[in-house]
Amino acid sequence: MDQVEFSGGVMHIKDHSSPPLSQETVEKLIQRSQEAKQQAYCPYSKFRVGAALLTKDNSVITGCNVENACYNLGVCAERNVIAKAVSEGHRSFKAIAIASDMNDKFISPCGGCRQFMREFGLHWDVYLSKPDGLYLKRTVDELLPDSFGPEELLRK
Ligand code: THU
Repeated sequence: MDQVEFSGGVMHIKDHSSPPLSQETVEKLIQRSQEAKQQAYCPYSKFRVGAALLTKDNSVITGCNVENACYNLGVCAERNVIAKAVSEGHRSFKAIAIASDMNDKFISPCGGCRQFMREFGLHWDVYLSKPDGLYLKRTVDELLPDSFGPEELLRK
């Protein structure tokens, strides 16, 4: 991914999709998200969510939702895992897998998390899973069409 200088910082600007992941890689990523779900701290909602993020250099970072007695401070699994990855030096992502305990519906990220994903590109994959391992594949662009992103800040 190319980068451009912006206001003294560095901003991602080119966004190319990666070759498709193998079935085995997808299944392993979903499994990692299911394992991460076990760490969920959700005493208020009791709604466990786990996420596993595959970086461009094939690292897997995991995260879960972390709630708070001050309810609005709770953090979703997806935002948590992206913040973890960025703070460990990763900014290019191939895919994220998301897991919850819902048996009858694929877990789907909230609007805020879609925007958080979109910051790091439109053309990477989001795997929405169920506990039995079945999944839907979406791109960030499909989940958040006509989005606003970092490129807009460079336009007049
Ligand atoms: N949650 C996530 O972590 N990710 C999602 O995709 C949907 C919702 C969390 C937030 C909160 O801790 C709990 O699930 C119930 O909304």
